[in-house]
Amino acid sequence: MEVVIVCFLLFTLERLPLPLEIAVLSVFSILCLYGFLASFANSLFNKELILMGPAIFKKEEPKKMEEGVSSCILPQSHRTSSLRTIANMLDNGGVCGIPTDTVYALAASCKHPEAINRIYSIKERPSEKPICICISNLDQLRVINPPFSPLLWNFMDLVYPGGISCIVQKGEWLKKLGVGPAYETVGTNDSIMIRVPDHTVTAHLTDMTGPLAITSANPSGESDSTHHDMVITRLSDKLDAVLCDGYSNELVGSTVVNCTKINEGIIKILREGCVPTTKIMQLFERAKNTLGVL
Ligand SMILES: *[C@@H]1O[C@H](CO)[C@@H](O)[C@H](O)[C@H]1NC(C)=O
Ligand SMILES: *[C@@H]1O[C@H](CO)[C@@H](O)[C@H](O)[C@H]1NC(C)=O
Repeated sequence: MEVVIVCFLLFTLERLPLPLEIAVLSVFSILCLYGFLASFANSLFNKELILMGPAIFKKEEPKKMEEGVSSCILPQSHRTSSLRTIANMLDNGGVCGIPTDTVYALAASCKHPEAINRIYSIKERPSEKPICICISNLDQLRVINPPFSPLLWNFMDLVYPGGISCIVQKGEWLKKLGVGPAYETVGTNDSIMIRVPDHTVTAHLTDMTGPLAITSANPSGESDSTHHDMVITRLSDKLDAVLCDGYSNELVGSTVVNCTKINEGIIKILREGCVPTTKIMQLFERAKNTLGVL
């Protein structure tokens, strides 16, 4: 083969006598023919019928995680069995990465305040930053009849489900919702942020588990996770599972609205996320108008 290559070099430099050129080309065509026949026959019969020697280029084997270092499992979101697995883990006090209607989130069950505390250490999240709760639909709130004003209900009916998080007054109603054990762990002393994601997987999972405490799935201060691979790369060694759902729906998190003073006609955008402020204000106006309040 080396001889052929050298001859080709000479050939391109037009320094090769004609008879030699013919000889080299013949050798080269025979080599090509041999290679073709060999790979054709070998792949046809799926074994090495014609010797080819060792491969020059080898597909690199994906590096296996060292056994025991990470026990994080990675189920696919389109399977019901995956959701069951994740729901069981959360019910048993696990912390999992899950998709939402915005970016990926870390979730823990409100039955396990210690798991919620684990989220803080996993993310290195400052303890003064509150964590929000996620429910599957507004009806779960309606049946426990929290002391919300008609205006707040109107507004919530317009924004949920979706990429908007409302902050409301905390109260005993949270205990009826199933947040009891985590009452002190979620939200601030007097307020709580509620998420109702517009996402089938998240909603179905939350139906299985009851209220979840969630926060974005990234180390504190770093960018949001817009694909399950980002969650796996950055946090999997500290998580019990990541529910893999491909790319996220949005590139940023939800828009956070402080609704604690809504009855005084005031809402405050604390963080503009995937839903623009103007859209929130339009919805607020509509909520007021349908109530007949000016
Ligand atoms: C929240 O309540 C705890 C215990 O009642 C208290 O120690 C803490 O100072 C309160 N935090 C705020 C911000 O009011
Ligand atoms: C929401 O707004 C009220 C009134 O402006 C304020 O007292 C409260 O601290 C705010 N809550 C949050 C979580 O920012």
